Amino acid sequence: MNLNRMLYTVGPVHVGEDTLQSMTKPIITHRCKEYKELHAGIVEKIRKALNTDMEVFLVGGSATVMLEAAIRNGVREKTVGITNGSFGNRSIELGELNGKTVDKVQVPWGMAMRPEHIADRVTKDVEAVHWVSNESSTGVFSDSVALANEVRAQNPDSLIFVDAVTSAFAMDINLKDMDADSVVFGTQKALALPPGLAVMLCSERLLEKAKSVPNRGFYTDLLKIKKQSDDSYALTTPPVSLMYGLDYQLDKALAEGMPARYRRHQEMADLVRNWADKRLEGVFPEAGYQSNSIGVVNRGALDFNDFHSKLKSKGYEISNGYGEVKEKTFRIGHMGDTTPEGIKALLSVMDEILEE
Ligand SMILES: Cc1ncc(COP(=O)(O)O)c(C=O)c1O
Repeated sequence: MNLNRMLYTVGPVHVGEDTLQSMTKPIITHRCKEYKELHAGIVEKIRKALNTDMEVFLVGGSATVMLEAAIRNGVREKTVGITNGSFGNRSIELGELNGKTVDKVQVPWGMAMRPEHIADRVTKDVEAVHWVSNESSTGVFSDSVALANEVRAQNPDSLIFVDAVTSAFAMDINLKDMDADSVVFGTQKALALPPGLAVMLCSERLLEKAKSVPNRGFYTDLLKIKKQSDDSYALTTPPVSLMYGLDYQLDKALAEGMPARYRRHQEMADLVRNWADKRLEGVFPEAGYQSNSIGVVNRGALDFNDFHSKLKSKGYEISNGYGEVKEKTFRIGHMGDTTPEGIKALLSVMDEILEE
């Protein structure tokens, strides 16, 4: 098995040697002083990097566990779910499978979700509105601040849940202005770590609401998680090695500076977009709302499987299309520790294959 490939996938993404090394420290128990310091340090660094004073919950599991927690803690009956792709659809399914009524707002794939799409939908009985900030199936980055403002204008009591799985740490999601109640991401995307840890930024409002919502579960009970988190502990056994890695990656992000980090992601996205315009049929998402972490390229007549196996034999891996646009597109992940130089190298190998 040859695993010696550079990943330009949409997550998990490439994890650097230095990051892997940072996770090889001795395992500590999660009730000791050193653990508390590690946990508290991570929380503070996330707050600093993302410029927020929200609660930061760290939970072993993939991001979905905390997307589920938001619904289970914040909603008794009804939500509005806006979707423009596979992960938006999943958030609706997640609400329904937890027994909630989800009023689905369908936005065409490839288009951004806009305030007008939810006109008159956020009625008084709507307890939460949820959507995906950066839709990983289509590469659309919607304006979550504008959506959140529209929710507040219609029903100030509605909670706001944002899936920031592929935008946090790659693009400025402006948490202060968004003022959401739950913002969720994981380690395997723009933090460039192995999968296995979910992060939820949580508002006081959501915690208050949770007190009156039954069946929050155990693992997903935000009140239990908060009680432990107040003491810099996790509710259940946390993936300590991954937390060493997270602490290391946060130091790196803070040293780079978040504005510089966001610019680097923008630069990588521009390279991919220009390449897609020149070599294939451009990118799939509408202009003005294109993701800086995932390039979704219109593949035209390209035989993706053949192209991808040649690419893999040259040491690179990208991602297939996803959901409804699986056969029409492919995806290049450019997030985490990847660089414009790395993207240029990838694109030149892709050029070579196209020219063969
Ligand atoms: C936008 C988005 N939301 C949610 C998920 C699910 O995340 P996880 O697999 O970490 O639970 C993904 C995974 O690719 C995603 O891209």
